[in-house]
Amino acid sequence: MSSTNLQVDDQGRLRHFLTIEGLSHSILTEILDTAESFAGVTAQQVKKVPLLRGKTIVNLFFEASTRTRTTFELAAKRLSADVLNINIDASSAVKGETLLDTLRNLEAMHVDMFVVRHADSGAAHFFARHVAPHISVLNAGDGRHAHPTQAMLDMFTIRRVKGPDFGRLRVAIVGDIMHSRVARSQIHALNTLNTGEVRIVAPKTLVPVDAESLGVQVFHDLEAGIRDVDVIIMLRLQRERMQGAMLPSEHEYFHLFGLTEQRLAVADPDVTVMHPGPINRGVEMDSQVADGPRSVILEQVTHGIAVRMAVMSMTMRAHTDAEAQEKQNV
Ligand code: CP
Repeated sequence: MSSTNLQVDDQGRLRHFLTIEGLSHSILTEILDTAESFAGVTAQQVKKVPLLRGKTIVNLFFEASTRTRTTFELAAKRLSADVLNINIDASSAVKGETLLDTLRNLEAMHVDMFVVRHADSGAAHFFARHVAPHISVLNAGDGRHAHPTQAMLDMFTIRRVKGPDFGRLRVAIVGDIMHSRVARSQIHALNTLNTGEVRIVAPKTLVPVDAESLGVQVFHDLEAGIRDVDVIIMLRLQRERMQGAMLPSEHEYFHLFGLTEQRLAVADPDVTVMHPGPINRGVEMDSQVADGPRSVILEQVTHGIAVRMAVMSMTMRAHTDAEAQEKQNV
């Protein structure tokens, strides 16, 4: 089954959220618009709506996370769901239990949604193929493959800062594109939203072999790559996914690809600087830029809550609508 068929039901509703690839412009826009309505909730004194009351959501993180895990948890709580955070290091996975057995056991507790982060590409798809029909699976990052909620919170941030017309924007993604699930999801989202120009900027060793087929312009020189751009998205060097020596040294990398105030001068005067986090200061960017007036890095984190609320509510709605339809047909 293709990702699209797995993610979207025959009525066009989002059932699982596994990858941006294959999703339509209208689904991405619905996510952004729904997130916009939830952004108001997160600013209220009482930050809760009852949309997922009685639902149980399991956060299953097989890899480290600060931003994604906590904002998924906050999003679930703000939708009034019950949340279980499974500590993988203290679970039976360390005793050799398979992913499928872990899944079946958690399913037996009548959960409604899994949020899955895993080091293996395809782990969230595996869950989605095997869960009971009433359960939704949300991908919180799988290997180098996809990090779709990160990409959507980035699109939300761009739309808030630059307005809804992506067609007039030049966006550069800079850094370790090769190992980045975030970059892949961002490229698919930017292209689906009809962004005017999408550039990737990286040393030759950190550009994926299929880069040209992703619909981007490739640059190996930072100043050429960020010239006149409206948005710069910096990425972390993912040492944990590199095999062998792909770079000379972090010092040398910063010298060639690190973003500084001086280098920002070649971009559009209103350029916005983003980073999904975690940041390595002095490696991909200096602190003056990370903490400076062009940076929206912490706004990205805040927007993660509203975007994750949107995806959770949309996927759950697909299930409740389908159940209601079935009851009507009986
Ligand atoms: N951006 C991101 O995925 O951060 P975490 O690894 O902290 O979740």
